[in-house]
Amino acid sequence: MSRQILVTSALPYANGSIHLGHLVEYIQTDVWVRFQKMRGHDCRYMCADDTHGTAIMLRAEKENITPETLIGRVWDEHTRDFAGFHIGFDHYYSTHSDENRALASKIYLALKDAGLIEVKTIAQLYDPVKNLFLPDRFIKGECPKCGAADQYGDNCEVCGATYSPTELKNPVSAVSGATPVHKDSEHYFFRLGDCEAFLREWTTSGTLQSEAANKMQEWFGAGLNNWDISRDAPYFGFEIPGAPGKYFYVWLDAPVGYMASFAKYAADNGLDFDAWWGKDSKTELVHFIGKDILYFHALFWPAMLKYSGHRLPTAVYAHGFLTVNGQKMSKSRGTFITAESYLAQKLNPEWLRYYYAAKLNGSMEDIDLNLDDFVARVNSDLVGKFINIASRTAGFIHKNFEGRLADGVANIELIGDFQAAAGTIAAHYEARDYAKALREIMALADRANQYVADEKPWELAKKPEAVYRLHEVCTVALNCFRLLTLYLKPVLPKLAEQVETFLDIPSLAWDDSQSLFIRHRINEYSHLMTRIDPKSIEAMVDANKQNLEPTPAPAPARHAEAQAHAAQPAMPVSESISIDDFAKIDLRIARIANAEHVEGADKLLRLTLDLGELGTRQVFAGIKSAYAPEALVGRLTVMVANLAPRKMKFGMSEGMVLAASGDAPGLFILSPDSGAQPGMKVK
Ligand code: 2FM
Ligand code: ZN
Repeated sequence: MSRQILVTSALPYANGSIHLGHLVEYIQTDVWVRFQKMRGHDCRYMCADDTHGTAIMLRAEKENITPETLIGRVWDEHTRDFAGFHIGFDHYYSTHSDENRALASKIYLALKDAGLIEVKTIAQLYDPVKNLFLPDRFIKGECPKCGAADQYGDNCEVCGATYSPTELKNPVSAVSGATPVHKDSEHYFFRLGDCEAFLREWTTSGTLQSEAANKMQEWFGAGLNNWDISRDAPYFGFEIPGAPGKYFYVWLDAPVGYMASFAKYAADNGLDFDAWWGKDSKTELVHFIGKDILYFHALFWPAMLKYSGHRLPTAVYAHGFLTVNGQKMSKSRGTFITAESYLAQKLNPEWLRYYYAAKLNGSMEDIDLNLDDFVARVNSDLVGKFINIASRTAGFIHKNFEGRLADGVANIELIGDFQAAAGTIAAHYEARDYAKALREIMALADRANQYVADEKPWELAKKPEAVYRLHEVCTVALNCFRLLTLYLKPVLPKLAEQVETFLDIPSLAWDDSQSLFIRHRINEYSHLMTRIDPKSIEAMVDANKQNLEPTPAPAPARHAEAQAHAAQPAMPVSESISIDDFAKIDLRIARIANAEHVEGADKLLRLTLDLGELGTRQVFAGIKSAYAPEALVGRLTVMVANLAPRKMKFGMSEGMVLAASGDAPGLFILSPDSGAQPGMKVK
């Protein structure tokens, strides 16, 4: 029976680029959606940019553009990157839309009518220079538990403590550097505690993975706090109806963005919105998310839906985080890899789709992108095993049989086994255990390769009496190849399309797995996929290596609640390195020969550095907030001279000057004692 399924991925923030960490989720979802569509189900994939909040407002201000211009530009970048990885949204919208404003307001008013909104005055940290209430991530200070300096307002990266920003010692506004003051303001709260009985039941009704359901028990044990859903002006978002100067907190209207994206899509495509979102909807609603935002999707969101008269999610599937080479993605190591930079190296997006799929098993475990393993696995599985079957047999069909497959095959046992696997493979895809699905598929590929190796078509082709056998062997192999393509199609949609063109067949659907592929003319084989060249991986990592920013910009605004509830591993102050690692850094004395403003950059100065006999270098340094260019000319400083040159928006940066910054405001470039000469090595 055909199912109707509405699928979503989490809405990415409109203040940053899509990176390989994000792509785990979009690829995971896209594979599932493509699989459902191949099965003949009516499945619609909705997403949007998450556009509201203080971070986006401040970034636009810094760039001297309106938030609308900023989110428009980011939308273009995000949709370009997603398309580059073949993420096939049916609709990709924005939370800054009329539909979202209307739906968020409607839901809020329904919650208010249900007596679930209360107004309370609370004190918060306020930046008296910017006239702005400061979100947790825009306040830095000393951890109230361990005293570590330079910690954000919500949790300590050194000891793992979570706290409220008002507890931070010696707080400083990351926006202006001012000391924040406490200020009272009225806030609107959603009475989540009143929804506990419903949530306890819903979260144990099979909607969540077992790991997530266990996490819920911990949260219930700790008690459900009422949720602050308002923010004071200035704020980029939607004003709360009947509450002038108060705006919906970005996380209130973000999940409503799923609905709004669908509302626009439904209006454009003649679908009945209520049939999908109404209380009695019979459709499935499936959310794919990262484990860090479970709290929002398993508690706030179902409660909002329930008490505003909507249907509830059928499933919330959380995945783990991505590590690269076993470690957290890191800008200095070059493993914080943007989608754009991957594609810029001409790396095939389907390599990454395949690798992620081979690692995803439907659990909340983290997955690791090991770059050496990535090269080895893709080259061996996709090129060595899969493509190999066609490349070793298709040529004979053209050379000896005018492109026609045999009219029948005597021994169809092997093909029968391939066909019989359709059910098991489908069950693995359905359960999001793509790792198992691909293991199954690759085991079949091994069998097909063994068959070709045993039958040796290249030898048969030399014997005129073996011509029928040759025809049959190649036809069997190409039947296997077609079935492998079909099974891999949710993961490799473009490659499957190329194969469909090569085999001259209509778009493969799941049920086609049960038909035989005979009496058919195929097109000439042309190469379908190349091997990964490890050099392009190195080039990508180099291109992502970034100078450590001298002025720490606030991290992309994550959400206080999720931070407070996610298990935060304690992290060391910094990683230790060996003396050999240190020796790799070529530190040199440099004379600042010239310093000037860079048009359009608000943090950077362009420095020309004189390294004596080593020549001159151009470096862009983020020190504009602390130095007038003329005050720098003639000064000696210290630079990293062997940093790989980086192409920046304004030109090449050929190194980095060293500067100190800490929790107190200010930024200080380093200078040697007198007597040091340009070009001298610093050790
Ligand atoms: O964590 C994030 O990146 C959020 N922008 C996700 C929002 S998902 C949904 F609720 F909108
Ligand atoms: Zn601490």
